[in-house]
Amino acid sequence: MDIILTHSQQSLQSRHSFALPAYARTVIELNDEAQLPNIQWQEPFWILGEGTNTLFLEDFEGTVLVNQLRGVQITEADDAWLVSVAAGENWHGLVCSLSAQGIHGFENLALIPGSVGAAPVQNIGAYGVEVGQFITAVDIWDLQSQQALQWTHADCEFRYRESRFKRKHNRHLLITQVHFALPKQWVPELSYPDLRNLPADVSASELMARVIAVREAKLPDPKRLPNAGSFFKNPVVSAERAQELLSKYPMMPQFFMENGDVKLAAGWLIDQAGLKSAAVGDAAVHQQQALVLVNHGRASGEDLRALARSIQDQVATRYGVTLEPEVRLLSKQGVDANL
Ligand code: EPU
Repeated sequence: MDIILTHSQQSLQSRHSFALPAYARTVIELNDEAQLPNIQWQEPFWILGEGTNTLFLEDFEGTVLVNQLRGVQITEADDAWLVSVAAGENWHGLVCSLSAQGIHGFENLALIPGSVGAAPVQNIGAYGVEVGQFITAVDIWDLQSQQALQWTHADCEFRYRESRFKRKHNRHLLITQVHFALPKQWVPELSYPDLRNLPADVSASELMARVIAVREAKLPDPKRLPNAGSFFKNPVVSAERAQELLSKYPMMPQFFMENGDVKLAAGWLIDQAGLKSAAVGDAAVHQQQALVLVNHGRASGEDLRALARSIQDQVATRYGVTLEPEVRLLSKQGVDANL
């Protein structure tokens, strides 16, 4: 029987990038798929990768499973590279290694913190690219029924920062492997404002260097200043509502979506509401990007919750727009806590 590494009363502070002071009753480290049949599903239960999109607002009265499965396999098809990656691999490490091998497509997604297994859950995206575009299938271990499953791209139901994995009733699904197809014919995606002045014949490495430079200028390194990236999703409104807002606020950035709805920039709304200096205790709005909340050291879950609620209230009052958390907020019992 495989040994399952379990630890009781473990601090979660170093296991999530917002670094709140919280404990879990039990932590399991998953290093080998052979361990899976020996893991009992009992709620509260939470699956964690590198913890860069999860915030533990309180002590967690259950089990946290840390997915540390490793391994990358690359095969060649006629027109694409087929890459299968274990969920515990680091995302940015994968992007760098593939790009260096001449396998392109992920450059716009460079420097996104977190693990490969977390990427499909919230369909990570940046600079005009979303990871779901490249995912052909996801291997899953169902912890409840103790069986292996595979979801196709269509099964995953990818949307902006959403997928079927993110739904409440799917929390027992552990991603073990993600399968990608990266077309051999690489076309750089340069539509995003920060990349627009790059030449059309830009090389993949130049593009990646630009993405890294833009991110480093705006987004704090979680190792130096604890944070979980964008705290809220960019809100989506109808075209009519967007037009009303634009007539009142002519400088408001707006992005048209394929279905005709309009995505607003939550960072702009927070910034323009004068909230860049907002803080509760050590929980604060980041100076270079108002959509990111940071922990200056000793923030508690309550500080963070109070700050996020106040931002939500003030943005709603001013613009009539509701900001929803993009991060996963965990309370004692593991359910996503409402702000
Ligand atoms: N803006 C401000 N003030 C701010 C922040 C932003 O005026 O404090 C304005 C910017 O000038 C720009 C607009 O708002 O006109 C959008 O800002 P930005 O380009 O920085 O991107 P974002 O919409 O705030 C999204 C993603 C990021 C991703 C970037 C680049 C979400 C929730 N966030 O941010 O993803 O890196 O676009 O594609 O969609 C993450 O999900 O954790 C994340 C960092």
